Amino acid sequence: MSKWTATKIKGMKGQQKISCLTAYDYTMARLVDQAGIQLILVGDSLAMTMLGYATTLPVTMEEMLHHTRAVVRGVREALVVADMPFMSYHVSPSQAVKNAGLFIKSAGADAVKVDGGAFRVPTIRALVRNGIPVLGHIGLTPQSIRSMGGYKVQGRKPDDALRLIEDAVALEKAGVFAIVLECLPKALGKDITKAVGVPTIGIGAGAGCDGQILVIHDMLGLQVEEAPKLTFVKRYANLGATTSQALKKYRREVEKGIFPANVHSF
Ligand code: KIV
Repeated sequence: MSKWTATKIKGMKGQQKISCLTAYDYTMARLVDQAGIQLILVGDSLAMTMLGYATTLPVTMEEMLHHTRAVVRGVREALVVADMPFMSYHVSPSQAVKNAGLFIKSAGADAVKVDGGAFRVPTIRALVRNGIPVLGHIGLTPQSIRSMGGYKVQGRKPDDALRLIEDAVALEKAGVFAIVLECLPKALGKDITKAVGVPTIGIGAGAGCDGQILVIHDMLGLQVEEAPKLTFVKRYANLGATTSQALKKYRREVEKGIFPANVHSF
């Protein structure tokens, strides 16, 4: 297989469902890429999963660039999308172009993701005009968590649903190659998918989307504390518990002199 491009991902609409995951470091990116996942997002969710912050808001450009470089080193085929952090593209289109340029030029990402609906069109146009592929993101947008008042399903009211459809159409016209739909009723996920000619990538937006994305820590059960139950997440493994058991076994074996055995010694 050859390298996935934004154009190829765009062309998958109606042909094949698109599988996407987040990854934040070399090892995980290598494994995700080897599994044939088509799109890897270096999500700003790394603020929580990798850096221990309570929200995505504090993560910086430097931190995102650092993780993006590690992911890029692990990937041969998947499209690597860097998530632009809070306040790295909000001030002006020129600020967005400058920072997105760093993800492409200095970190080696293939594309960037920005949150926001129709109001974000001037920024998206500026990025696309400058040769930077953009993944849109509407619905629940965690960078606006302060104004949204919490992690809630969006678009339940008819007016809100209509606005989200208009947002998606505006993003398509501005030139995005795909749109993430987060936390929407499944009927709305399907309606938006029908309304646009670019692929929709759902996270908690139902099976009617053109593709799906999950946060890798959630789907692998890689939590350090009991995490809030996210009903849209399917847990494919329980690596947190497996890791914890292995670590405790190692500690016991060191304490009892079981490890290292002769085979682990010179
Ligand atoms: O940062 C992230 O992981 C994301 C996904 C939830 C789409 O934006």
